[in-house]
Amino acid sequence: MTDFKRYTITAALPYANGPLHIGHIAGAYLPADTYVRYLRLKGEDVAFICGSDEHGVAITLGARKEGVTPRAFVDKYHQLMKKAFEDFGIAFDIYSRTSNPVHYETAQEFFKTIYDQNLFIEETSDQYYDEQEGIFLADRYIIGTCPNCGNPNAYGDQCEKCGTSLSPKQLINPRSTVSGKAPILKPTKHWYFPLDKFESWLKDWLIEGHKDWKTNVYGQCKSWLDQGLQPRSITRDLDWGIPVPLPDAKGKVLYVWFDAPIGYISATKEWKPNDWQKYWKDPETRLIHFIGKDNIVFHCIIFPSMLKATGEYILPDNVPANEFLNLEGEKLSTSRNHAVWLHEYLLDLPGRRDELRYVLNSISPETKDADFTWKDYQQKVNSELVAILGNFVNRVMVLTWKYFDGKVPSEHELPGTDERRKRILALYNQAHNDLNKSVKDMADAIKNFRFREAQFQMMNLSRIGNKFLADTEPWKLAKEDMEAVGCILNYALTVVGNIALACEPFLPDGAASIRKQLNSELLEQSRKKFWEKEELVHVVPQHHQLGKAELLYRNVEDADMEKQVARLKKTPATTSAPATENAIKPLKPEIVFDDFGKLDIRIGTVVSAEKMEKSNKLLKLQVDDGFGVRTILSGIAQHYTPEDIAGKQVTFIANLAPRKMMGTESQGMILMAEDKDGKLRLVRPIDDVAPGSQVS
Ligand code: 2FM
Ligand code: ZN
Repeated sequence: MTDFKRYTITAALPYANGPLHIGHIAGAYLPADTYVRYLRLKGEDVAFICGSDEHGVAITLGARKEGVTPRAFVDKYHQLMKKAFEDFGIAFDIYSRTSNPVHYETAQEFFKTIYDQNLFIEETSDQYYDEQEGIFLADRYIIGTCPNCGNPNAYGDQCEKCGTSLSPKQLINPRSTVSGKAPILKPTKHWYFPLDKFESWLKDWLIEGHKDWKTNVYGQCKSWLDQGLQPRSITRDLDWGIPVPLPDAKGKVLYVWFDAPIGYISATKEWKPNDWQKYWKDPETRLIHFIGKDNIVFHCIIFPSMLKATGEYILPDNVPANEFLNLEGEKLSTSRNHAVWLHEYLLDLPGRRDELRYVLNSISPETKDADFTWKDYQQKVNSELVAILGNFVNRVMVLTWKYFDGKVPSEHELPGTDERRKRILALYNQAHNDLNKSVKDMADAIKNFRFREAQFQMMNLSRIGNKFLADTEPWKLAKEDMEAVGCILNYALTVVGNIALACEPFLPDGAASIRKQLNSELLEQSRKKFWEKEELVHVVPQHHQLGKAELLYRNVEDADMEKQVARLKKTPATTSAPATENAIKPLKPEIVFDDFGKLDIRIGTVVSAEKMEKSNKLLKLQVDDGFGVRTILSGIAQHYTPEDIAGKQVTFIANLAPRKMMGTESQGMILMAEDKDGKLRLVRPIDDVAPGSQVS
C-alpha cells in the first residue's frame, strides 16, 4: 500500500433518474468516503471522483414517464443528487456529469483509439423493434421471461431476480416496455467490443493476479470467465447519448456502459485540466473502484479490457464491491417508494449525519446483503454513539472542568508505591496496550476495506476509555489524592484526543466537535503521525485550556422513529410488481400544509392547441390564465388531439419555473390524472369558472 504515490478513488456514477437512497450510500459512497478520508488524513495524494450517469435507457425511460425531455430529466436529478451528497458530507473532489462536453470528447476519443486499432467488430443483425413507437428495443426497453429463473419481467440486459446478464434475444415472450406490444425483428448495424480476445489476458491479470480481491467480487468474475466471454455491442440506436464518432453512424450512440466508466476519466480532466494524467496513466497511482454488486462485471471485466485496449491507462488495483442493503426486511424499491431517501433524511433529522453514517457503516453489506431497520438505528445510536462514545468524551470533559477548571492536569509519572497507585498504574498500562491494539486493528481493517470492523475498533477506544474510568474511579479519589486524579484525567484526555483522530474517517461531525472541545493545536499536528504509526499520539499539552464541554450525540426519541416507520407504512410494500406493471402508485411521503401552499394552482381555458413538431408526446397549448395568454407544453399528445382539447378548461400550476422543451419555453404544467392503464385524463372543474380562478 505504501508503494503507491497517489490514489484515484472512484465511486459508481449513479444514474440521474431518481433521488439517492440509503442503499446507494451503503453500497458505494460511504465506504469510498471513509476510505478517502483515511487516505487524506495520512497525507496521501488522492483524487476522489464521482458524477451523474446521464445516458442510457434508465434515463430515456424515466424522462418518458415524467413526460419531460431527457435533458430536463437529468438536470433535475443531477442537481438533487449533487446537493444531497454535499449536504451529507460525501467529500468528492469533483461531482461531475456525463452530459458535459469534456466527457463527450473523452468518450469519443476513447472509442476512436480502439477503433483505429481495428479492434471493434462492425456487424448488421436483426434486433427487436417496436413498430408502434418506431424504436429499437435494447436493454430496459424490452422485457420478457427470464430463460434462467422464469421471472416474467426480466429486462433485455439483466434479470433483476436472478442477476443473470441477458441479451434481448434470450428473453422468452418479449414485449416492449414502451408500448407493451410484441416486437418485430429489423436489421441494424452496431459496433462490438471483442471481449473474447481479452479472455486469456483477464485470466492472468484478474484470476491469477488479484486473488486478494473480496470473495464476492472475485467469485463473480471467475464465474464469468469460466463461462467464456463473447463480443459485446457497445453502440445503441437512441436519440439520447454520445454520438458514435464515425461518418456512417447516424442515429447511433455509445452504449451507456461504454461511456459511463470513461466518465471517471473525464471528471478527473474537468477537475485538474492540466494535471489529470498522473491520476490515470502513472503506474504508481493506485486505482480503486467502489461500487455495488450489480456493477461488478462492468468494472472488473469490461472496463479493464477497454482500458487495456487503449494501452494508455492504469488498471484497477481493487474493486471492493458491496452487496445490497434491504430496508425493514424487504428489497429497497424506488418504484414502490420503499426507501429512506437521503434528501428527506437530511430534512427530517437535521444535524444528525453522523448517526446515519454510523448505522450504515455498522451494518455495511460487505460480505452479504444487510438489513436496515429504524429500530436498530435507534438502538445503535442510543446505546453506542450516545452511551459509549458521547458518554466517555463528556465524562472526561466534565470531570476536568470540575476538578481542574478545564485545564489539562499535569503530566507526570504517578509517584508513590502504595497499592492503590500501583493498581492505577497497572490499569493504565492495560488500557494503553488495549488502545494501541485497537488503533492498529482499526487501521488494518480500513486498509482491507472492512469498514464495519474498522468502526467497531474505533468505538473500542471509547469502550476501553470508559472501562479505565470505571476501574480507576477518579471521582472517588478526589477527596484524598488529587495528584492521582490529575494523572488519570490527563491520560483520559489523551484518549479523547486520539478518539477525535480515530473517528475522523467515520464520524466527521463528531470529530469536529471533539476538536472544538479540546481546543488543541496539537491535534492537527499529530494527525498524520497517528495514522502513519497507528498508535496513540500526544495530543493535549499539560495546562492547556480546554473549550466548553458539549454533548456529542443525543438520544433518538421514539417519536422520531415512529415518524420514519409511518412514512414506510404509507406505501404498499408487499407486491413486487415492477414499475411497468399497471398498479395504483404508492402514496408519496406526507407533507405539511405549507408545502401545499407553495403551489399556485389555477384554472385556465385552452385558447388553441397544436402538435409540437418532432414530438409524438407533446401538445403546445395557448392557455388563457386570466391575466393574458401563456404557452404551456403538455405530454398528452397520445391521449388527446389538439381538437379535443381546444376550448376546454384545464387545471395548471401557474408558478412553476418556466422550462424549455425542444426549443420552446413552457410556462406552467397541466394537471392530469393517470389511469391504471397509463391513460392520461385532464383534471378540470365540473362547471366552467373564470380563467385565473385559484384552486385551493
Ligand atoms: O448502476 C448504476 O447506477 C450505474 N449508473 C453505475 C455506473 S458506474 C460507472 F461505470 F460509471
Ligand atoms: Zn432470472
